[in-house]
Parts: sequence; structure tokens; C-alpha cells
Amino acid sequence: MIAKHDVLVVGAGCAGMRAAIEAYDAGADVAMISKLHPTRSHSGAAEGGINAALGNAAEDNAEIHAYDTVKGSDYLGDQDAIEVFAEEAPGDIVQLENWGAFFSRREDGKLAQRPFGAAGSPRTVYAADITGHVLIQVLWEQVCKRDIPVYEEFFAWQLVEHEDRCQGVICWDLLHGGLKTVGGKTVVLATGGAGRQYRVTTNAYACTGDGMAMALHAGLPLKDMEFMQFHPTTLYPTGILLTEGCRGEGAYLINKDGERFMKHYAPNALELASRDVVSRSEQTEIDEGRGIEGSVLLDMRHLGAERIIERLPGSRELSMVYAGVDPIYDPVPVRPGAHYHMGGIETDNDGATEMTGLYAAGECACVSIHGANRLGGNSLMETITFGRRAGRSAAEWALSHTTVEVPEAAERDADARLRELLDREDGERPWKLRDELGTSMLENFAVFRREEQMAKQIEIIEGLRERYPNVYVEDKGEVFNSDLTQAIELGNMLDTALCMVTAGLVRKESRGAHARPHDYPTRDDENFLHHSITRWKDGGVELSKSEVRFTKWEPQERKY
Ligand code: FUM
Repeated sequence: MIAKHDVLVVGAGCAGMRAAIEAYDAGADVAMISKLHPTRSHSGAAEGGINAALGNAAEDNAEIHAYDTVKGSDYLGDQDAIEVFAEEAPGDIVQLENWGAFFSRREDGKLAQRPFGAAGSPRTVYAADITGHVLIQVLWEQVCKRDIPVYEEFFAWQLVEHEDRCQGVICWDLLHGGLKTVGGKTVVLATGGAGRQYRVTTNAYACTGDGMAMALHAGLPLKDMEFMQFHPTTLYPTGILLTEGCRGEGAYLINKDGERFMKHYAPNALELASRDVVSRSEQTEIDEGRGIEGSVLLDMRHLGAERIIERLPGSRELSMVYAGVDPIYDPVPVRPGAHYHMGGIETDNDGATEMTGLYAAGECACVSIHGANRLGGNSLMETITFGRRAGRSAAEWALSHTTVEVPEAAERDADARLRELLDREDGERPWKLRDELGTSMLENFAVFRREEQMAKQIEIIEGLRERYPNVYVEDKGEVFNSDLTQAIELGNMLDTALCMVTAGLVRKESRGAHARPHDYPTRDDENFLHHSITRWKDGGVELSKSEVRFTKWEPQERKY
């Protein structure tokens, strides 16, 4: 063990940094582990904004925010968690603002708020369309101010469980090579999502489900893994995010005939229906031949150059660089792309998991406030509110317990596994399996899901898992061995993907992002108003369910 701390935060995006700051402020000796330099974390790619019921643009309050979130979740979100979230979000925004987040402002000096999908009020606070980037810089500044150490370019690989509690993390040191163990009285996982399981995704290359897989392999439950959100506007063909803020500012979605097709699917909310609805509408247009080579068009021309340049400069730049289209003059080709895992490591409202000493926050966690479908702008807010709560509770636990111990056997076993992978002299290259996973997930487990495709996808993943023990790492070096880390990431993606599709196959209904129009086209509250729980058992997935927590909102039909 190279060091030990009270609180060890794994992941240095918004959730991780917010947790670390809070743990530090609670008096804990805290450190962060990150496979990237913190300001390169994927949170920095969040664009359109962060939701809090400030009521600056129209009447709003925590109750309305909570209700929108419950309804958006297709009634699968845990309502006590959602209420905590909506009530605490405004205070967290003020805190960020006081730390120097330069949010866009109205003429009267108040923070500006733009409409986002399925929100009953314009609630999304934003910094033009680079909100995540701004938050990452602000949080990093606070981390630096507190001198919180970061084990940078450490790839967290395995949790250390000793005496029935989590006591640290075994990592691969990317810069120098070798396994390094860092001890922690408590560990907070904040490692983000796993969108790289899909060939078309808004997610960075680093989003490979590492935290989810570490928890899964340690025997912990992952919750609601079948719910992968497809964002309606990812740039064609790269999958780069074009923010919902474009539609919030008034952009239209049109098909190849120039028709604003959302009027057929969501006559009231139109382009600002919830993401599951908009993605399905686009996919239907594409599938029925009204798209353009697998895309539809996002039309911003009527917004005018001034508004596009002021409010959506990043989207304009991305469109010009990656699609060769200037949205001031031409519509931009977009399609649904894998964006966000509603599911993840099951936690309580303070980020605690089933394993003593282990906490989780952000996209890798499932509190659950998003249920079957997340509202745009709620994830950045979740990273802050639940990152803070997890950091606080991890610190409190750590400060009331004294020891950290990592048994030598844990490090020895990890080293043996790693050497076996590195010493293999031939086999298949990891990228090949990764490509097959990405392509097949997109084909068989995307916006629309069919029984036979899901069954086939399970076979494909099982086949890839059988081939996985023979993957061959060509680079035998110690320094920046991305070949090695990609091989490990592949294992994480395969196992978490198996959880997703297994849970999807048995959910015989359509709810939120899980749409089965061909066999189970409607929501079935009688049989499926429950969370899916997946655990790793005997090298495979064990499935069970748990109750959704209700406070005051009875399930109703969603209309947009
Ligand atoms: O569209 C966006 O700006 C993404 C926001 C989100 O996923 O919350």
C-alpha cells in the first residue's frame, strides 16, 4: 500500500471533485484517484446546463421540479431521493456561483434559465453551452485551493474488501507502470458511465463502466441497468453531443421533407418532449424512410446568427468542425446516440452502498432519481448534490473509524491476474472485441428493443466473454500502456453490458428508455413497477427486483 487516507474518491469529474471538497471540509484527509487529469473528465463534455428550481424565468419550485423528474422517470425514480434532490439543488447552485461559476445571466442580473425537455418551467441554469466545462474548472480550483492530493493517471481496477468493509483500491499506475494500492477508511466511486459499450455515443473514450464493474465484481447490486438513455441530438456520424439547449433555445427537428415531425408524436411539447420520446420519434422517422442516411435534421437557422453565437457557440463549432455544417446557414444532421446510464451502483440518499465504507455518486451510481428516463440537466445537478452528500457521509464514517488494512494477499492476487494478461504471447486483440460489442449493442439494444435481438445480444456478449480470457496485450511496456488498460476496460464493458441486456430481456413492458413496441408496447405497472437488480454470481448475472419508493405521486400516463 503506497498511502492511506480517510476518504479516497475514485474519479475526478464533477461528482468526484464535489465529494472530495465536501469530505475535506468535513475534516477528513481526502485524496482522489483518476485515470485522467481531473479537468479532462467527461463531466467537462456536458453542455446545456444544470437544473435547479430557482424560478428566475417563470414560476418554479422544488415540488414542480420533483414532479417533473418523477414523471420523466416514468415513475421508476425513488421519490424520496427525488425530493431531496429538488430541494437541495438551488442551494448547490448558489454555492457553485459563489465559488466562481460564471453562469449566463439575464438583463436583471439574475442567473438565466433555459427550457429543457419535459420541464414544467425553464429551469436549466447554463453557461452558454459549455456548462460542464465551466463546472469542472470551478471545482478543480476548489480542489487545488484545499491542496487535495490527486493520484493522477491511476487506473482503479479492484476494490479491497477486508473484514467486511471497503478499505482501498488497487490501481494500475499509468505513468510509471505497476500496481499501486491506496488505502481508504472509506471509498467513494465517482467513475462516470459506460457509454463506450456503444459504437455511437456522446461519451468520452474513458467512459467504460470501471466503477460499476468494480462494484459488481465485489458482489454489489447494480440497479436498473437496462435503462440506457439515447440522447436525441448527437452529431451524425460521430455521435458527438449537440446539446438539448439548442432545442431549448428554439431549434426544430425536421425530416427529409422539411417537416417538423415532432407534432405527430408530442403535439404539445414538440422538440421539448422528454428524451425517450424524442429519440423514439427520430428513430421512427429514420426507420420509416423519412430520414437522411440514418439521420434527421436539427434546424437552428431561424434563431439567427446573434443568438446562436451568444448562446450556442460550442454547438456551432462542433457542427462546423465535425459535420462541415454551419448551423447559422444549414440544418445539422443528428441521430439518437447512447448518452447516459440511468442505472448503476445501488446507493441510499447519502451515497452509501451495501458494502460498509463504500459510497458512490454521479453517473456510476443509481440513487435512483432518474428511473427509466432522465431529464436533461438533472445529471450535472445530481453530480453536485449527491457528490456532496456522498462526500459528507463518507467523511463522517471515516472520522469515526481508525484503521485501514490491506491484506498482502489482495495485492498478490491482483498482480498474478495482471501478469497473466500481460504475459500472454498470442490471442485476439482487445479492440476487435470492443468493436464487436459496440456495433452489436447499437444494433440490438438501442432505442427500440426486440425480444429476439436482446436474446441474440446476450449470446453475442457471452461469446465475447468466452473469447475475453484470450485477449492479447501487444504492448509489454510499463509506461502509458493503453493497450493494457483498454483490455481491462473491455472486461468491464462486457460484464456491465451483460447486466443491461439480461435485465432488459425480462422487463416485458415499455417504460422510459426501454421501448419494446413490437411485443410489449405499453407500460405495465402491475407487473413491472419495480427496480431491476443485477448481481454477479458464479461468473454470470443473477437477477432480482426491489421496490420503487413512493412519497406522493401515483403513477399516471405520461403525455407530452
Ligand atoms: O443536451 C445536453 O446538454 C445534455 C445534458 C444532459 O445530459 O443533462
